[in-house]
Amino acid sequence: MPQFHWRIPVHGCKGDLTRPHYTRGTWGPQIDGNLTPAVAAGQTDGAPYHDYLLEVARAAEIAGFDGALIPSFPDSEDPWVISAAVARHTKTLRFMVAYQPMWFDPLYWAKASASLQRLSGGRLMFNVITGGGGPRQLWWGDRIAHADRYRRTVEALDVFKGVWSGTPFTYEGKFFQVKDAYLPEPLAGQRLPELYFVGSSDVALAAQGQHADFDLTHLEPFDNLKLKFARVQALAATHGRTVRPGVRFNIIARPTAEEAWDYVERAWANVNWDAVEQRARENGRGDGVGSFRANPKRGDTVQQHIVEDLWGGFGTLGSQGSPLGFVGSYEQAAALIDKYIDIGVDGFVLSSTPALEEALRVGEEVLPLVRGRTAAPLRAHG
Ligand SMILES: Cc1cc2nc3c(=O)[nH]c(=O)nc-3n(C[C@H](O)[C@H](O)[C@H](O)COP(=O)(O)O)c2cc1C
Repeated sequence: MPQFHWRIPVHGCKGDLTRPHYTRGTWGPQIDGNLTPAVAAGQTDGAPYHDYLLEVARAAEIAGFDGALIPSFPDSEDPWVISAAVARHTKTLRFMVAYQPMWFDPLYWAKASASLQRLSGGRLMFNVITGGGGPRQLWWGDRIAHADRYRRTVEALDVFKGVWSGTPFTYEGKFFQVKDAYLPEPLAGQRLPELYFVGSSDVALAAQGQHADFDLTHLEPFDNLKLKFARVQALAATHGRTVRPGVRFNIIARPTAEEAWDYVERAWANVNWDAVEQRARENGRGDGVGSFRANPKRGDTVQQHIVEDLWGGFGTLGSQGSPLGFVGSYEQAAALIDKYIDIGVDGFVLSSTPALEEALRVGEEVLPLVRGRTAAPLRAHG
């Protein structure tokens, strides 16, 4: 049974894609037009954005998602803090915390993870990311080049897994060294968090082969996806392991395809092209090799950016992740998911805007149509 996760917007959320200034949350200053936190009569309303994030998490849980991806960027809330807060108000929802292995020392990573694993009753998992280089990576103070970053990720995972067991563990790596380190009782002995791993370069795939449970890929044209999953499997096999394919994508699903495309047309008519051009200048300065690139320009039509059965304008609408995503009816969305299941995809991370209402919509209208999922609501996997 595939896992389905929803993405929690820890760096702001629009209330409606067709009204760009109508936002929820703190992505940008507190202004009129924000629903929360906002300015009312010249005063900030004091409403905490965290309450909105909690509503999104609960909506995802109620609508039957297994878990939630909580990303981490310089301008986002911290996923550990959000997970710990949300864990107390949810029962089955799992937390896929985005984590770059240089954010903490690996021993502290293991300790904090074990603590969160206890607090959440075993609902922790990770999106292990290694960073895309360029100015964004420098923001974290990280100057290590691409291939070495992945070596460091492998070492961090060697240590993380090595100390998790509770038996003294010694390690002499290039980046990390530990001597007789272990997690003491009562932290030791819990279920190891599942690892969704991102990266598309050869060195990234080799690292996945050693440590990942899932390869998490941004949406790409179908043949590219198949090719990537085959490469990951081949490398995992050399380590006697299996890595399950996962995809992350944006989705706009409505009762009919016409309604979905009408919504996209209205959002497209309100695109702030100055902001799009500014983002294009800032992006593309790293060393990442994955991810389909799209470059919609002023004057382009929505239809110009259809790629196979996907649409490549999501980045232009301000969505994070691949510019490629799904637009169409509930049935078409379920058929697309089935198509990915047919090539072995076993984990899905879906997102849409606004995250609250769309979590309910996708969970209640699309997921039950996915093959084999009509019988019972989803439950967290044991
Ligand atoms: C599904 C997915 C989620 C990501 N989430 C984050 C994130 O939360 N924070 C972050 O800094 N980078 C994130 N990234 C970007 C990665 O750090 C990195 O730029 C990218 O995977 C490039 O790796 P590659 O060159 O090996 O393909 C994400 C990438 C993917 C594919």
